[in-house]
Amino acid sequence: MSYLKTLKPLGAKPESYPGFSERLVASHYENNYAGAVRRLDAISARLAALDPATTPNFDWNALKREELVAYNSMLLHEIHFEALGPAVPPPSDLSAAIERDFGSYDAWRARFAACGRALSGGSGWVVLVREMRSGRLAIQWSADHAMAFAGAVPLLALDMYEHAYHMDYGANAAAYVEAWLGAIDWTCAAARWRGTAAPADPHAATVAELEGFDGIFVDARRGPTFAAADSVLPGAVRLDPATPDGRASGLPTDREIVVYCVYGFSFSRDTAAALRAQGYRARHLDSGIVGWRASGGKLDAKRDGGV
Ligand SMILES: [Fe+2]
Repeated sequence: MSYLKTLKPLGAKPESYPGFSERLVASHYENNYAGAVRRLDAISARLAALDPATTPNFDWNALKREELVAYNSMLLHEIHFEALGPAVPPPSDLSAAIERDFGSYDAWRARFAACGRALSGGSGWVVLVREMRSGRLAIQWSADHAMAFAGAVPLLALDMYEHAYHMDYGANAAAYVEAWLGAIDWTCAAARWRGTAAPADPHAATVAELEGFDGIFVDARRGPTFAAADSVLPGAVRLDPATPDGRASGLPTDREIVVYCVYGFSFSRDTAAALRAQGYRARHLDSGIVGWRASGGKLDAKRDGGV
């Protein structure tokens, strides 16, 4: 299995995170998160090829250690990005647990921030977990990707590697920690705390689902973004998201359609919804062309004046 084919999309458009530049979020997602997943894929392939009878212990040790680091980096980055967004407070049940285990939200916030600042100048993660032995919430400090409470469920993960903030905050890690804490969307954390999965969007397509796709890709990036782009998904048909008229664009009604934009948010979702309303079988690509490219998906060159 390729983990790259299942890259998790960002929780919100990269320009919509209060306190963070689009450039930082996009770089963090495409280079560091997707980079960890690429490493995990490569390590997994090496491990799968090992012969247990003849491979020396030092090879097992090295690869299993690297697998652990890359795997946790993937998981923690996904949790980091899930929580980053326009702030949404914790729901009442999780809020009550925070008060039970830390005294108050502000007391939790102060302790979490202190752990983040303690990692400034170095690297690592601060993770809010539900520790399953006691069922209580706990703040876990990790100096790398591989240190974790056994059996704890991570709810929030603050990335303290410099790549997560240096572009916007320089060496001011404390300001970064405050910005991150002020922009927490607790929705996914609450779902994990309750042990429930976030409901899947029935109109979203993942890169993994599109292996062997024989339908039609529709490029619905915003006009100026499309004009500046140099590549498109294979065989893509251009549809301006401002005027998504499938028939005028010559889209056949008997083919499956997957609409994409840059990251998989409003332009592709709204265009796919408009096409469904016109009678098309249309979904949107959940992580956009960024996720497709990061997953190693094939791209075509954009032809002058169109696709
Ligand atoms: Fe990171």
